[in-house]
Formats: sequence, structure tokens, C-alpha cells
Amino acid sequence: MPLVPMRQILDEAAKGGYGVGAFNVNNMEQIQAIMQAAHDTKSPVIIQASRGALKYSKMIYLRNLIQAAVEEFPEVPVSMHLDHGNSVETCIEAIKLDFTSVMIDGSLAEDGKTPNTYEANVAITRKVVELAHPLGVTVEGELGCLGGIEDGHGAGLSVDEVNEHLTDPAQAEDFVKATGVDALAVAIGTSHGAYKSGRKDPVSGKMLPPVLAMERIHQIHDRMPNCHMVMHGSSSVPQELVDVINQYGGKMPNTFGIAIEQIQDGIKHGVRKINVDTDSRLAMTGAVRKLFAEKPEKFDPRDWLGPAREAAYQVYLARMTAFGQAGHVGDYMGMTLADMIKVYAAAK
Ligand code: G3H
Ligand code: 13P
Ligand code: ZN
Repeated sequence: MPLVPMRQILDEAAKGGYGVGAFNVNNMEQIQAIMQAAHDTKSPVIIQASRGALKYSKMIYLRNLIQAAVEEFPEVPVSMHLDHGNSVETCIEAIKLDFTSVMIDGSLAEDGKTPNTYEANVAITRKVVELAHPLGVTVEGELGCLGGIEDGHGAGLSVDEVNEHLTDPAQAEDFVKATGVDALAVAIGTSHGAYKSGRKDPVSGKMLPPVLAMERIHQIHDRMPNCHMVMHGSSSVPQELVDVINQYGGKMPNTFGIAIEQIQDGIKHGVRKINVDTDSRLAMTGAVRKLFAEKPEKFDPRDWLGPAREAAYQVYLARMTAFGQAGHVGDYMGMTLADMIKVYAAAK
């Protein structure tokens, strides 16, 4: 089937009471690993590209690789989503590239660093909805700010600052009404990247796991049971993946991720899209380091990209199973953007 609007994938996930992994990609191996895992587990899936990913792959390559993936596995509903769009122009660029869904991250200013005012966030998000919906394209907005920083994106907030920028449930209700977004990314204390804690035990000095404000998700779900929430920064950063990296020469101390059980609790309370990037980065890096350490004579890129792809596949397989999307491929026929245009027009 052709690429489907993300809105349909999320609506179906809500009906079935499951979550859908949205996996970041930068290259062919990640796309192939996601699609193989989606095929093997019978999972609808969201493939997303950040601005950095599009720049790295020179825009057109990722789009065509994802199109190839859809051709190889026509039975899998796939949405192609722009992650953390920073401006109206970036979203337009993605839509022109045939993305079926865009995120406008109005929680930060266009520099991708400075927290925005609520009013500025509503204004830019509304603008993107107004231009995307008539084309059938889904829109994700974000309210509140995450911690951490990835590839220049993020406010780089400290733990205390993150707590000041959590999503306010009453404001979330207002935001969804004022903007008309299809999905709402919430800030509940997660951060991008492999270092999600930033908390030290004052006595032992040891790092402690991040504290998440799960009650905010529960409250937003109580207020808006039909709102599709998105959890960013949701890699679990499994210690065994970090251990492989460190065993073969890496230096990644004090990493922390999000427990799968907390994500599953979110899914029970309206989280439908779960963003995972870091876990596949860790798996691939560990596999490559291991290969080079154990077989230093190897120089054919297939010898290290192959194990990297297999390691990423294992991560996707585990997440698709844990989020509950596995087994739902045959539940529905994919909608086109043209179908979605009619749905939005009828809802006006
Ligand atoms: O939002 C964060 C994602 O992990 C994307 O990261 O901007 O380094 O591609 P990136
Ligand atoms: P992680 O860094 O936890 O994988 O989060 C990715 C993300 O939120 C992409 O938008
Ligand atoms: Zn994110």
C-alpha cells in the first residue's frame, strides 16, 4: 500500500489500545531493519526523519529509500514523518517530499534551542495545521520542553529546568483546541539521547534514574480521552547495549533510559506514538565496534553494516512487541492523502 497518513495509524492504535514506535532513520540499513521487523511482527509503523537526517542524506535519498521499503512490504502500513520541524518552511519542504506527516515543534523557537512562548507555539502550530490538513497531511505539535540536546536540537535544559517546562494538562487542552493538531508531544521529564538522568544521589554521588511525571499523561488523558499523545525521548538505553560499546573501546558512563513499563503505562493512558532513536544508534555502534575489535582485518563495509543492521533489527523487534503494535498489520486498509483530505474537510 502507499504511504499512509499518520493520523490513521494513530486512530487505529487508539481503537486497538496499543502504541506505535516511531523510529528515526538516517540510512538504508535502519530503514531495512525497521521494515523487516515490521514484516516479521506484522506491525504498522512510523518511520521518521529529523532535519539533521534529511540534511545528512541530502533529502531525496531517505524519501526514495522509504518508498522502496513500502514497495518491498506492501502489506505494512507505513507513515513517513518529519521529526522536530522547526519552521513552516521546513514542514512545507517535507510535504513536497511526500511526507505524510509532519511535526512542527513550536515548543522551541526556530533556532531549535530557545523555549518559545505559548502564544508563539499556538500561532506556528496552527499555521502548519492550516496548510497541512487541506493536503491530507497529519500534524504533530509539542507543548512543554524536553531535556537533552541532539545534533544541535534541544534547549539543553538542566533537570530543574526540565521540571519547569513540563506540559500543563489544562494548557494542553487549550492547545489542542486552538491548533487542531492530530497528535500532541508531551514533556514529562524525558530527554533526547543516552543520558536521561542528570540526577545524582546527594549521599553516594551515584547517578539515579530519571523521574517521569506520568501523572501528567494520566491527567491529559482524563481531560481529552481522544487525544493521541506522543512520548519523545523514549529510548530505554538498555545497559547491555551500552556494555557492548564500552567493552569494545567506547566511553559511555552514566547512561539512563526510560523503562518499558513506564511507556506501557503511558500507552494505557493515551500515548499512541513512541519516539525511539538512541536505542538503534547504541545497537549499531556496539555491533560495529565488536566487529572491528574481533575481526580487525575486515574492510568491506558490508562486513560491519550487516551486523549493525541486524543489531538494530533486534531493537525494533523488541520495541514493536512491547508497544503492542505487533499483529495489527491486517486490521485495516491504508488510507491515501486524498481520503484524508475528505475526512478533514468533513470535520470542519
Ligand atoms: O530528536 C531527536 C532525534 O533523536 C533526532 O536526532 O537531530 O541527531 O537526527 P538528530
Ligand atoms: P531518544 O533519544 O530517546 O531515542 O528519543 C528520540 C526522539 O524523541 C526523536 O524525536
Ligand atoms: Zn524528539
